[in-house]
Amino acid sequence: MIFDSNYDLKDESETLRLAKGIASHLYPGMNLYLRGELGAGKTTFVRGILRGFGYQDKVKSPTYTLVESYSLEGFTIYHFDLYRFKNETEWDDAGFREHFKNTSICLVEWPEKAGHILPKPDISIELSHRALGRHLRLIAYTALGTECLKAII
Ligand SMILES: Nc1ncnc2c1ncn2[C@@H]1O[C@H](COP(=O)(O)OP(=O)(O)OP(=O)(O)O)[C@@H](O)[C@H]1O
Ligand SMILES: [Mg+2]
Repeated sequence: MIFDSNYDLKDESETLRLAKGIASHLYPGMNLYLRGELGAGKTTFVRGILRGFGYQDKVKSPTYTLVESYSLEGFTIYHFDLYRFKNETEWDDAGFREHFKNTSICLVEWPEKAGHILPKPDISIELSHRALGRHLRLIAYTALGTECLKAII
């Protein structure tokens, strides 16, 4: 960890607003992990990022397909939900490894299910339930991730 920041988000709209703010400081080639228990708000955060890039359609949770892709201007966002991830063979056969490249941004829910096969993230987004709303911790692991977090404070 090289930098971290914490937020209390009292409702869904605050989660979306913060995610939109982050989107304007993300670049192709970056990888973000989203951690937190079921219903913590990971997919909501992804929706906020996509809204930040101007994507207005439905954002489906890729629970069964493992990944959903969004073609934006000049790059692609891949949204993974690895809750049902089985094994490395399936990962390679489906070509998921090739999605991590410098013309895409990868947003990964449940990265812990795939363990060591994922590249390290620029930023980890950790959501947890609170009596009112959610607590959010952002942790940067790279220089690019740190720049992004510093820009939104
Ligand atoms: N800050 C917040 N305060 C209260 N509710 C929130 C907040 N952010 C998101 N939510 C709500 O939490 C619910 C679950 O959100 P979401 O589907 O994004 O969770 P998830 O972490 O992706 O779950 P899963 O692990 O099942 O994929 C949604 O109803 C959403 O509106
Ligand atoms: Mg989800």
